[in-house]
Amino acid sequence: MTGGPPSKTGTIPPPVSAPPPSVPRPQAPLAPPTPPVPYPPHPHPHPGSNPGPPPSSQPRAAPPPRHSATQPLTHPPSQNFAAQHPVGGVGSVTLAGMPPMQTHHPGAGAQGSPTLHGHGFHTTPPMPMPRITVQYPQVGAVLTSARGNYEVRSIVGSGEFGAVYECVGPFDQVYAVKMIRPANRPHGEVHAEWAREVQRLMLLRHPNVVFIYDAFEQNFLYYLALERCDHPLTAMLGPPMQESLVIELARQLLAAVQFLHDNDIVHDDLHPGNVLISHADRPIVKISDFGISHELRGQSAIRPNVVHHKIMAPEVVAAGYTSKQSDLYQVGLLLYWMLTGSPALAAGLPYQELIRQVGGGEPRRRAEQIGTPLGHLIAKMLRRREAYRYTSAREVWADLRALPAWQNRDLFRDT
Ligand SMILES: Nc1ncnc2c1ncn2[C@@H]1O[C@H](COP(=O)(O)OP(=O)(O)OP(=O)(O)O)[C@@H](O)[C@H]1O
Ligand SMILES: [Mg+2]
Repeated sequence: MTGGPPSKTGTIPPPVSAPPPSVPRPQAPLAPPTPPVPYPPHPHPHPGSNPGPPPSSQPRAAPPPRHSATQPLTHPPSQNFAAQHPVGGVGSVTLAGMPPMQTHHPGAGAQGSPTLHGHGFHTTPPMPMPRITVQYPQVGAVLTSARGNYEVRSIVGSGEFGAVYECVGPFDQVYAVKMIRPANRPHGEVHAEWAREVQRLMLLRHPNVVFIYDAFEQNFLYYLALERCDHPLTAMLGPPMQESLVIELARQLLAAVQFLHDNDIVHDDLHPGNVLISHADRPIVKISDFGISHELRGQSAIRPNVVHHKIMAPEVVAAGYTSKQSDLYQVGLLLYWMLTGSPALAAGLPYQELIRQVGGGEPRRRAEQIGTPLGHLIAKMLRRREAYRYTSAREVWADLRALPAWQNRDLFRDT
């Protein structure tokens, strides 16, 4: 795990009756996300779920780092993640607007079902927020959608607001089924997060964006059935990669990022756990996890709700906004890591030190120290001022493809 997701909250965008012209319609559209069960909306929509005004030039305090809506973290969020967010067991979801129900933590049932026990309804305020206990799927559980059954074969990974299971599903195909972890949030909020990601993935069909096959709800838990990739990019990080392989992965990554940007989407969460690789012998990059992505809706930048502090671009630190440029910065960090085998920002930095290094341009300085044309190109992606970075993924690729390491590449000769 490279860190759990942020508080992925927000309102469901208006139903997409017709996608923007540049977005291809899915050939065989999935059933659109089902409308939420008619609980009243969460009374406190997450601030920032709608794009704010264009960023002012006035610097403002950096938004809190990811995993904390209110407090800066002083340690990497990935620490103890598995312990904090076990996949098995139970969770709970708040049913805002419903009469309260006493809940009961069931034993670990193989298939898991929410348990609603003792309908202790109250009619006088103050009403405690009703809660329901949900049982997360265990290995062997069967999840059912309109398209068929998904048998949980293993647990791929788990984060604060999600868990991913390998399942055998319709037509005996293997899928990665992602569950949106309720994490004690209002039901409407969990549903909105799921619906938003489903809608986004359904519209963003691209060979380098993870493919969504199905989306369904079962027992108050929301799932997405995704193509099962071999591993995240994280698994390839360690020994420095040869330049031509870095450029090949960058090529695919940039193609996907350009596609997102052409559709006015900023991903904002391009860390190695969200860059998946399939066909490990001849890697195909698949960008995943649109949990905190946002639409620019005609603006050039917006204030993010939450950010993953290890991949925060300088403009987030200095002025609290992200833009397409911020995605390019995150790609720069990924390229640096692939090329050198180490992150441009050391793991485990105290938050204040991290802010200091990002604001002080440390990643760019390190990239320059590589001392090669590719290093200089990465340094340009990591410039502190957006105006000095590349203006688009397309432009990055134009420079990358001209490098000798790409022109003289000798990749995948045996395949
Ligand atoms: N479609 C998929 N195929 C294969 N593995 C996947 C797929 N989707 C997610 N994973 C893996 O499942 C694990 C959990 O994913 P998840 O998105 O919950 O966490 P993460 O990416 O590590 O962190 P974050 O929550 O910050 O994005 C990760 O290792 C991720 O790479
Ligand atoms: Mg992820």
